[in-house]
Amino acid sequence: MLKNQVLIMTQDMIQPVPRHYCHIQQATEVCGFTMSSDKMTCSLLRTLAASKPGGRFLELGTGTGLATSWILDGMDSHSSLVSIDNDSTSLDIARDFLGTDTRLELILTDGAEWLIKNRQSKFDYIFADTWHGKYLMLDDTLNMVNRGGFYIVDDMISQANWPEGHHEKASNLVHYLDARTDFFLAKQAWATGIIVAVRR
Ligand SMILES: C[S@@+](CC[C@H](N)C(=O)[O-])C[C@H]1O[C@@H](n2cnc3c(N)ncnc32)[C@H](O)[C@@H]1O
Repeated sequence: MLKNQVLIMTQDMIQPVPRHYCHIQQATEVCGFTMSSDKMTCSLLRTLAASKPGGRFLELGTGTGLATSWILDGMDSHSSLVSIDNDSTSLDIARDFLGTDTRLELILTDGAEWLIKNRQSKFDYIFADTWHGKYLMLDDTLNMVNRGGFYIVDDMISQANWPEGHHEKASNLVHYLDARTDFFLAKQAWATGIIVAVRR
């Protein structure tokens, strides 16, 4: 910070967290799931979700439903969210806390299988948080984004626990998205590193 500069903004969150967030967080810790999106990312997911009233939302990789709870919190009552994962243990946690929300469809399935079956579907908002939709079947997923719709990925800043070769994969993804002329991109070296792309 520059001398005499007054800090007017921090990452502290004053706005309320989603109703089930803390309970899901506790259950997530108990079951040892460590791949959840962080709170800053989730706050962005909620904020962007609120810009799509009546929207069709897709989350690839539900995990235990932490990010799901934030996306739902931003959505209005006319919107719908499909969230898929191939792990029944983590998906059951999401189901326990969020399963009664009629806007949400939780699906236990393999990402590739689901994307192949649903290639023709269109969404206003896709949070791609698993292999398929991000590092695999990327074009199929980008094709599912409506004009004006979001394609969002996190975990784009290099992390110490990345396996060998993952840095290159992430870097390739950034360059590929950057080269797409049908999307505008905002690359944010913030939180875990987020890319927000909007179809033109
Ligand atoms: C990064 S975590 C998702 C975290 C969640 N979106 C959140 O923010 O809390 C990635 C998820 O992808 C799921 N996954 C891994 N391989 C998959 C596959 N082939 N098909 C569907 N889901 C898969 C894992 O079970 C894991 O829950």
